[in-house]
Amino acid sequence: MEDKKTLYSAIQPTNNLTIGNYVGAISNWLSLQNDYDCYYAIANMHAITVRQDPAELRRKTVALLALYLACGLDPQKCCFYVQSHVSAHAELCWVLNTFTYVGEMERMTQFKDKSARHAENVNMGLMDYPVLMAADILLYQAHYVPVGEDQRQHLEIARDIAQRFNNIYSPTFTVPEGLFLKVGAKIGDLQDPLKKMSKSAENANGSIFLTDDKDAIIRKFKRAVTDSGSEILFDPENKPGVSNLLTIYSVFTGKTVKEAEADFEGKGYGDFKLAVGEAVADKLAPIQLEQQRLLSDRGYLDNILKEGAEKAAYTAGKTLRKVYKKIGFYQI
Ligand code: TRP
Repeated sequence: MEDKKTLYSAIQPTNNLTIGNYVGAISNWLSLQNDYDCYYAIANMHAITVRQDPAELRRKTVALLALYLACGLDPQKCCFYVQSHVSAHAELCWVLNTFTYVGEMERMTQFKDKSARHAENVNMGLMDYPVLMAADILLYQAHYVPVGEDQRQHLEIARDIAQRFNNIYSPTFTVPEGLFLKVGAKIGDLQDPLKKMSKSAENANGSIFLTDDKDAIIRKFKRAVTDSGSEILFDPENKPGVSNLLTIYSVFTGKTVKEAEADFEGKGYGDFKLAVGEAVADKLAPIQLEQQRLLSDRGYLDNILKEGAEKAAYTAGKTLRKVYKKIGFYQI
């Protein structure tokens, strides 16, 4: 029991999650929860680096917890907590700031992208985002961090900061490894299948959100782009649209792509798109129902977050005390 390795990840409670996130992240976490000591944070401190509506931020924070649970993540196996409930994140972030160079942060790809997108609000928090993320990970002495490709550079900087600190003082932080999960299919945008389905795509018709109802799901699949010709074959190069839909169908029905092709032999694109939409809607319906049920039991959810914050604060506190001691903060 005790020798399980620690796994840490976090999601911002801002944008709606898509079926791409479900397949790429949450469904993988389901199998990881048995083998690792898992911490999953709801990263509301990262979220405010871009201006948020307070009521929405509050609502989305519990909604994300309810969603995790509805997908089958087990609070007995994973520690769920809200980042702002554990003050050690802000505290370690401050210390790590003094081990991070301004030039390094200015060069981060995501910082450059977000500065361009939010030119009216290029705040210090936006620039400090990777340092806060390093603090998140290092506080828990995480061995593994499952994240998407877009977080690779942030993970690299967390490793650099950990090594830098360890070299100046003595081994203090576990140097984390990224888990860039390749299991599970890549889901493309329904309107532009060569692009990854994204929670913040400009065209919402290209993304299926986990909160979409059956009508919306069917409507979006009906509008999905297909390819010239009429056969329903898996051929990502020549038929990216059809292949993406076949992938989605296979993931959501548990069938292989070959079996999926066989299901649609001799059928037209219209029937095909409808069937894919139904497969997705059928899979999401019970998750959405369970999420709603959980959201109506706020006491239960708050309790999970309370226990999560206690456990997280205990682990994080141990690391923070070590750091304070090493850097020469006077202890009483
Ligand atoms: N930046 C991550 C994202 O947007 C979220 C995040 C915050 C995170 N802290 C983390 C992920 C620590 C992994 C580990 O996806």
